[in-house]
Amino acid sequence: MHMKRLNVKTDGTAITTIKQLIMIIAIACITLPYIVMIWSDNNVAPDFHQFLTNIFFIGLYLLLGFAVLMILLSRYSPIKVLAIRKQLIIFTRKFLESKDDGALKLSVTWKYCLKGKILIIKLYPNGLVKDTALVGKKLSERLGEKLLDYEELDGEVHYVFGKLPDRYDGIAVMSENMPSQEDDIKIVAYNNPIPIYDDIFWNIASEAIHILLIAPSGAGKTMFLSYLIGMLLKRKHLVYVVDAKNSAFGRFCRHVGLPVATNVVEVIQMLNALMEEMQDIYTTHFANGEASVDTDFSTLPIKGHFLIFDEVLSVLASADKKEKAEIEYLLGQLALLGRAAGFGIVVSAQKLNATDLSKNITEQCQTRIILGRIVSDETFHQATGMYKKDLGHAYRGGVGKGYAVTPLSGIKYIETPLMPHNVRDYMVLMKELRDRGTPYGEGR
Ligand SMILES: Nc1ncnc2c1ncn2[C@@H]1O[C@H](COP(=O)(O)OP(=O)(O)OP(=O)(O)O)[C@@H](O)[C@H]1O
Ligand SMILES: [Mg+2]
Repeated sequence: MHMKRLNVKTDGTAITTIKQLIMIIAIACITLPYIVMIWSDNNVAPDFHQFLTNIFFIGLYLLLGFAVLMILLSRYSPIKVLAIRKQLIIFTRKFLESKDDGALKLSVTWKYCLKGKILIIKLYPNGLVKDTALVGKKLSERLGEKLLDYEELDGEVHYVFGKLPDRYDGIAVMSENMPSQEDDIKIVAYNNPIPIYDDIFWNIASEAIHILLIAPSGAGKTMFLSYLIGMLLKRKHLVYVVDAKNSAFGRFCRHVGLPVATNVVEVIQMLNALMEEMQDIYTTHFANGEASVDTDFSTLPIKGHFLIFDEVLSVLASADKKEKAEIEYLLGQLALLGRAAGFGIVVSAQKLNATDLSKNITEQCQTRIILGRIVSDETFHQATGMYKKDLGHAYRGGVGKGYAVTPLSGIKYIETPLMPHNVRDYMVLMKELRDRGTPYGEGR
């Protein structure tokens, strides 16, 4: 990727003077012949007349050439990289600090390039910029482009501008390349990352296997979980569901043929059963001396076990002290020991205070997602480990819209895959996906 470099070395007054000088020369060349003709009463030698005509045209071409050059180099330039160049120059002079360095100015350095509709700008602040997130915001206003990505590195800052990518169509993603019933788990791309938005994935065969999903009521938790369930079934994994609110979501999952727990007792039973399964897998695949050091879920052809725990806090709220401790202990163990054996947990909650859910669980969740328009700074920080002001743009949450943090991508804006409003529209598809993965009723 070739990037253009831009050093803004002057405050622009020298350049303005040169421009004015060229203009004066051009206008002088154009007007001088007229003045001479009037002054000499149209009575000059033919040679001199020719000379005056030449001067006139030199002035005219100079003016035209100069005008074209000015347009090309201006922020209205039809050549986009040149327009960006000018915008960066104006931006530097208007909004960034610079220091005198002899006759020149010491200021920042930019590098920029256009990749299709994406504009990548790198800033080398030279110690002159304090708040690079704020610079991102202002630059975005200046350029009239959305800031898609912002990353602060050692000595340089990356900004990516452009249009937001479209949301995925959840049903289309679920139904493309359906595995057949006969396809062995080894053949199915069973541990391929699950697409969420643009280049953000849920990497189920990595340390990012556990998800923490935070969103206020109505912001799209359950819809997103339904999508994830479909994608897990497509990869032939076993899915277990907790629907603490005993809502339509739980009924839907039961219809699809998944085990669903709705109250504290059932949740504890389910967690214990999963723990036993996990211990079985450890005994068969890990303790027999054959397994190499790097043996784990991503190299073994074993099905993953995924616990989709919607509204974890409402379960904990209705549990007594002992039950709460037990649920937290079991969830914590699953999160801590589950990864290598392919046991993943997806935990959703409306908000998260430090005391709500044991750190043993939350700290294991390396895929963090937050959705919703109104999310407090504290909740945002609890969920992502970042502050809204560090985003480099105004917070952009909404229904099905928010941010994901993964070990690979850092924090990125996301929109969850679009799902039909009526579950009946994808019930058949979900059932089919489930039946292909677990045709004989195993895992029920
Ligand atoms: N991915 C999506 N595709 C289409 N519509 C969505 C999506 N996510 C959310 N919605 C819309 O928002 C509504 C609420 O979403 P959802 O039920 O998933 O929210 P929730 O966070 O689970 O809320 P609650 O606290 O009520 O359980 C949905 O009924 C739907 O209209
Ligand atoms: Mg819900």
